[in-house]
Amino acid sequence: LWVSDDGKAAVYLAASAGFCFGVHRAVDTVYDQIKEGQTPICTYGPIIHNEMVVADLKQHGVMEIDDEVQLSGITEGTVVIRSHGVPQRVYEQIKGQGLKLIDATCPYVKKIHQIVKEKSAEGFQIVIIGNAHHPEVEGIMGWCSSPAIVIGTEEEAQKLVESGIQKPLCVVSQTTFNLKKFHKLVEIITQLRYHESAILNTICNATEERQTEADAIAHIADAMIVIGGRNSSNTQKLVDICRKECESTFFVQTFDDLNLRLVPSRGIVGISAGASTPNNIIEEVSKQCRKTILLNRC
Ligand code: F3S
Repeated sequence: LWVSDDGKAAVYLAASAGFCFGVHRAVDTVYDQIKEGQTPICTYGPIIHNEMVVADLKQHGVMEIDDEVQLSGITEGTVVIRSHGVPQRVYEQIKGQGLKLIDATCPYVKKIHQIVKEKSAEGFQIVIIGNAHHPEVEGIMGWCSSPAIVIGTEEEAQKLVESGIQKPLCVVSQTTFNLKKFHKLVEIITQLRYHESAILNTICNATEERQTEADAIAHIADAMIVIGGRNSSNTQKLVDICRKECESTFFVQTFDDLNLRLVPSRGIVGISAGASTPNNIIEEVSKQCRKTILLNRC
């Protein structure tokens, strides 16, 4: 928290902003491989959803594979699996092609893979609360022995209830899903009262803390800045949460996207950032906000 000398303006930077444990681990894993001189190195999908980090890795010669077709063209080297995880069949393909596999899947995501694998084998219908097109959800679906159902809205939850599905459900969540929305959807789904059903809140701690903190800061802020990659699902969720509390919420990738004229010179400017936002970008935005407030007050 930074407060101006006269106490009339403040910049409140969320303690939870920036790389989470899983993202740190995945990014460090790739840089360790570079340091060890391993070549060629590929990541399966962008290692994290941040263009700057991905561009830097590219400069170090790290290639990105986007799908199984591209993977089939790789004949040597190391494949690092991103923090979002991949379907089980991708592991088999990597091994089958004789490539070195380094698994940087976040342990929170890995845990979901294990749950859905076991529960689908036991005959449960797997329901994933999340975005069907997000790589993490596509990865989770690839660990189920029968097709999973993905729901992300109240309408979809209601449709599931009306489908009169006969199997007991095993409900899990994308790790970065909005906690309040998760509870809302679960409330609808549990109208299907199979006593064997399992409802598992698999939203990770880092996400829960980040969303709770962003919500609290946005509640008192006059302007809120959320920093993160354009494709970052957890950043988009933060933006949605903050907009509900603070009308002047701005979503930026870097300092360059920030319109400094919109930074108020009085009151509280809150800052939060997604799990794949590097610290130097957060620091730059925070520093420039403080500078702008001071300049506007001269
Ligand atoms: Fe893992 Fe949660 Fe980060 S699932 S990658 S610790 S947002």
